[in-house]
Amino acid sequence: MGNSNNVNIDKLNTLRRVREESLLGGGQDKITSQHAKGKLTARERIDLLIDNGTFIEIDAFAQHHSSDFGLDKTKPYGDGVVTGYGEIAGQKVAIFSQDFTVLGGSLAEMHGKKICKIMDMAMKLGMPVIGLNDSGGARVQEGVISLGAYADIFLRNTLASGVVPQVSIIMGPCAGGAVYSPAITDFIIMVKNTSYMFVTGPKVVKTVTHEDLSSEELGGAETHSTKSGVAHFTASNDLEALEILKKLMSYLPANNAEEPPFVPNDDPTDRVAEDLCHIIPENPNHPYDMRDIIKKIADLGDFFEVHKDYAQNILCGFIRLAGKSIGVIANQPAVLAGVLDIDSSKKAGRFVRFCDAFNIPILTLVDVPGFLPGAHQEWNGIITNGAKLLYAYCEATVPKVTVITRKAYGGAYDVMSSKHIRGDINFAWPTAEIAVMGAKGAVEIIFKREIENAENSEQRGAELIDEYNEKFANPYIAASYGYLDDIIEPKDTRRKLIEAFHLLENKVDKNPAKKHGNIPL
Ligand code: HXC
Repeated sequence: MGNSNNVNIDKLNTLRRVREESLLGGGQDKITSQHAKGKLTARERIDLLIDNGTFIEIDAFAQHHSSDFGLDKTKPYGDGVVTGYGEIAGQKVAIFSQDFTVLGGSLAEMHGKKICKIMDMAMKLGMPVIGLNDSGGARVQEGVISLGAYADIFLRNTLASGVVPQVSIIMGPCAGGAVYSPAITDFIIMVKNTSYMFVTGPKVVKTVTHEDLSSEELGGAETHSTKSGVAHFTASNDLEALEILKKLMSYLPANNAEEPPFVPNDDPTDRVAEDLCHIIPENPNHPYDMRDIIKKIADLGDFFEVHKDYAQNILCGFIRLAGKSIGVIANQPAVLAGVLDIDSSKKAGRFVRFCDAFNIPILTLVDVPGFLPGAHQEWNGIITNGAKLLYAYCEATVPKVTVITRKAYGGAYDVMSSKHIRGDINFAWPTAEIAVMGAKGAVEIIFKREIENAENSEQRGAELIDEYNEKFANPYIAASYGYLDDIIEPKDTRRKLIEAFHLLENKVDKNPAKKHGNIPL
């Protein structure tokens, strides 16, 4: 009896020692070096993100099975990634957190299998997948096995797309083909100065194209949040990135069969916003900040913007109305007059599709002078890219409510969730101007000859512009055809929207059966 007790204690001690070892990752020196770079460790990140006491780790004892190139001498427990399940503000999630202190967080057979295991479970249980990325990429010593492991993840990212939300935070290196896993996920958050993403790094770029760029310039957080649009959010440090993730998750359902969380608050649903009556400038060519309108409408004035620094001529983000998540897409007259161009169409198109995939109703605020003209836009595919946004709105079956605040010109009128493409409730403010184009352009086309032949061309032109404006620069013609459901007073917009989304709560609509559509990629 005594002997068997001793054996059990030995075994227990072994378990405790191994567990201790696995918790230490690459060891204290590597942890110190990680901290010196301004980065937290994989486990510290999980501790900060996951509700206290809810993290259930799996595969802590996984090890690689390779003996090539010195790997036989080091077989760290966990294989460079911490995986498991936990809760964020009470919502269950699957999470992986790459551990740069272990073999540089490099990914190979077991590291990949661990990620795939939690993704498979997330699909069965309908849980979002959170990936904290900090990795030197494919583990060079394990060769093609590493490539296979990446592909296993890419496949799961793709199959999970539209089923469970997937969010990536880039908290260190993410290079080569490794970038394609985050790229398939729904949102990417990058940390300034300590993270980067690129398909080929600065050295190769310099050799091939002679461009001399730092990692930060080539693929840092600022680059990807302003130039490429790869990153949806940027954070100053790891902690801030985790806070952004928590806030993002608060708007999202666990999966595509569930509704987004209801977060009650005490902002009155009938709150009147008198100042909205004065927000549209007298001069139709003067800008205003559409964010001011969104904040006046939203519960507690809170607008959580996505892609804030990219394609700023359109705004995308989440608000709550009467405690319910709403995805907002809004032209921004303060930037490029709110025109639609390639980048803004891509940005908004992807956001519309995300909301539609995850049962998040869509509010569209319209003040758009049309599509941006020019050779650059045409040659780079404004036709195909503009069609992405149109396609996304057309196929979306979630509740869609639209408010035209000022301009809705040309094709852009159709695109921005018009009645014709299944807008459910379409409002306009009395300041709305719904027409094929602005008065000046219209008059120059229709009355070209009359203006040329007039005694005082300038005066006649101005008269005709006034006449055109009088006739068309208003919402009443569109309303007369039923293209608008109502013309509302700006001050009542919040109440009207809450009523509309309440009405649409049980909306059922669907698209024809098909394998999948062919969005103009
Ligand atoms: C194996 C790696 C590794 C890798 C880093 N390490 N990357 N081990 N495979 N890919 C190890 C290092 O040898 C080192 O081990 C430890 O991790 C920390 O790395 P350091 O270089 O000391 O750190 P740092 O100076 O911060 O530099 C980080 C780095 C650099 C920039 C990421 O390590 C690097 O360039 N690594 C190689 C990146 C790369 O080429 N990866 C393959 C990309 S292609 P010791 O024992 O010294 O601590 C790819 C294809 C994916 O990923 C394809 C998918 C389809």
